[in-house]
Amino acid sequence: NAEELTRMRDLATATADDAARLVVTERPRSLGVEATKSSEVDVVTVMDQRSEQLLRERIGAERPDDAILGEEGGASEGTSGLTWVVDPIDGTVNYLYGHPFFAVSVAVCIGDTTREGAWLPVAGAVSAPLLGETYAAAHGQGAHLVTADGRREPLTVSDCERLELALVGTGFGYEAAKREEQGAAVARLLPKVRDIRRGGSAALDLCFVASGRLDGYYESGINAWDQAAGQVIATEAGAAIGGAPGGEMGKAMAIATAPGIFADLTDCLFPEAR
Ligand code: IPD
Repeated sequence: NAEELTRMRDLATATADDAARLVVTERPRSLGVEATKSSEVDVVTVMDQRSEQLLRERIGAERPDDAILGEEGGASEGTSGLTWVVDPIDGTVNYLYGHPFFAVSVAVCIGDTTREGAWLPVAGAVSAPLLGETYAAAHGQGAHLVTADGRREPLTVSDCERLELALVGTGFGYEAAKREEQGAAVARLLPKVRDIRRGGSAALDLCFVASGRLDGYYESGINAWDQAAGQVIATEAGAAIGGAPGGEMGKAMAIATAPGIFADLTDCLFPEAR
C-alpha cells in the first residue's frame, strides 16, 4: 500500500545517504592516479564492501523478512516477496579518480530479481554525496530531489520531442567485446542527436533523465543494481522505459527517455527491428 511504499522510499533514502557519507568520509587519501592500479582497485573494493555491509545491516534490521541483493555480497533469502537491490558505489571508476559523479543506489523490487526482466522496482533512492543531491521515488507518488541545503524539488522529465535536439546519456560495460558493440551503437546515434554524455554512473544518469538534465539514457547489458533505483525515479518523473525489442530489461538494452523521443531513439539503436 501507499504508506508502506512511502516508508520504504524513506528507508532507501536514509540508508543510501548514510552509505554515501561513509564512502566520502572514509575514502582513503592515498586513492588516486598515483597509486598502482591493482592496489587502487583493491581499496575501492574494500570501500564497496563496507558500504554494502552498512546497507545490509540497516535494511536487514528494519526489514528482516525482505531479501537483499547487492553488487558485492550476492543475494540473501527473504520471505516477503520483496528484494532490496543495492549498489554500494555506482560509478566506481569515478570514485577511484575523485570525480564527483558517483552514487549509492538503493531500491526495493517486486518479482524475481535473479531472472532478467522479471522484476520491477517500486521505490528507491540514489544519493550522490559530492553533488549534494539525493533522488528518491515511490511507485505512484512521483519523484523528487533533495538538495544539500534541504530543498525538496519535484522531478519531471524534459519535454524534448526531437532526437536532433536531444542530449542522450549512455554507459559502457567493462569487457572489450561488449564495448565494440556499444561503440557501434554510439556511432549510429551520434550524428542524430544534439550530443552524447557518458557520465559513469547509470543510477545517476537515470536520475538526470528524471530531472531533465538528460533527455534520455540507454545502456546494453546493464545490471539490476545499477538500474533499479534510477528506473523507478525516472518512471515516476514521467520517463518512457523500455528495453530492446524482443529483449528484456536488465539483459539487452535499458532505455529511459522523455516520452517524445522514445520511438526515434529506439529506432536508431535497433534499426534491424523496424
Ligand atoms: C557501472 C556504472 C557505469 C555503467 C556500467 C556499470 P559500477 O557501475 O554504472 O556507468 O556504464 O555498466 O557497471 O561498476 O561503477 O558499479
